[in-house]
Amino acid sequence: MLIGAPDTGKTTLATLLLSDAIGANRKIAFVDADIDTPSVGPPACVGLKWVRSHADMGNLATADELRFVGSTQPQGAILPHVVAATDLVEIARREADFIVLDTTGVVSGVVGQTLKYHLMELCNPALVIAMQRGGEMEPTIGMLRRFLAARVAKVVPDGVEPVGPMERADVRRAAFAQELSDPLPRWRIGHDVFAPTLPEGFDVSRLDGMLVGVQDKRGRCLGLGALQLAAGEIAVATRHGEHMHGLRLGSLRIDLETFTSTEVRLRELMFGV
Ligand SMILES: Nc1ncnc2c1ncn2[C@@H]1O[C@H](COP(=O)(O)OP(=O)(O)OP(=O)(O)O)[C@@H](O)[C@H]1O
Ligand SMILES: [Mg+2]
Repeated sequence: MLIGAPDTGKTTLATLLLSDAIGANRKIAFVDADIDTPSVGPPACVGLKWVRSHADMGNLATADELRFVGSTQPQGAILPHVVAATDLVEIARREADFIVLDTTGVVSGVVGQTLKYHLMELCNPALVIAMQRGGEMEPTIGMLRRFLAARVAKVVPDGVEPVGPMERADVRRAAFAQELSDPLPRWRIGHDVFAPTLPEGFDVSRLDGMLVGVQDKRGRCLGLGALQLAAGEIAVATRHGEHMHGLRLGSLRIDLETFTSTEVRLRELMFGV
C-alpha cells in the first residue's frame, strides 16, 4: 500500500514494483484507489487491473473491475471509497500473491487520516510505503504505527517535480473524456433505477448533468455515465447501457463538452438540506 501527498512518486513506484514482479512467476494485481487522477479506470472509481504481462502495464486505463465512489475527493465519500478499495483488494487476494494498492494524495487532516486508517485497517497490507517529502506525513505515520500492526516504511522521494493543480485538472478532464466522449449512446431510464432512490415527487430535472456509476446486478460498476434531460425526460449517456441494471448517484456533475466536474451535495440536491 502506497501512501503520500500529491506528486510524491506513489504511482511511479507502483508501476516500477508491478513491472519488476512480472515474469517472476507471480500472480499480480494492481488496485488503484486514486479516485482523482487514477491510472486504472476512470476518475471517481476504484479500479483493479490484473497484471500478467508488460502489455497489461501499457493498458492500465482499461480496468478489469471497477467500483464506483462518486467523488474525486475523499471528503464526504470515505465510506464508499474504503468499501470500494477493500472489495477490490479482497477480489485481488483470491488470485494474486502480489498486490500493489495506490491511493489518493489526501494524507493529512481528519479526512486524510481517517481514510488511511480505515484503508489500512481493512485492506491489511503486508507493507505500507509512506512517501514523505518533508515532515507532512509524520502525524499520519505515527498514528498508523500506534494503532495498526502492519509495517509502515518511510521513503523520501528524490528529484520528484510537483505536477501542480492545473496539470492535475487537465489529467482528470482527459480521463473523464476518455470514458464519456462521443459517440455516447443515450438510454431512456425510469425514475426507480437509482441508488440512493429519489424522494417522492422529486423533480428529475435537478439530476441533469449528474455523473453516475452504471452498475450491473452483482454490485459491479461497469463504467460511468452522465444524466441528461431531454424534453422533460431523464436519460443516461453511457457506453455501458447494455448490461446496465441500475445507476449510482455520487456527488459530481460533469460537463460533457469541457469534461469539467463540479461537486454537488447529494442530500441538498434531493431534499434541499
Ligand atoms: N524517483 C523519481 N525521480 C524523479 N521523478 C520522479 C520520481 N518518481 C516520480 N517522478 C515524477 O514525479 C511526478 C509525480 O509522480 P507520480 O505521479 O508517481 O506521483 P504520485 O504521488 O502518484 O502523484 P498523485 O498524488 O498525483 O497521484 C511525475 O512527473 C513523475 O514522473
Ligand atoms: Mg498517483
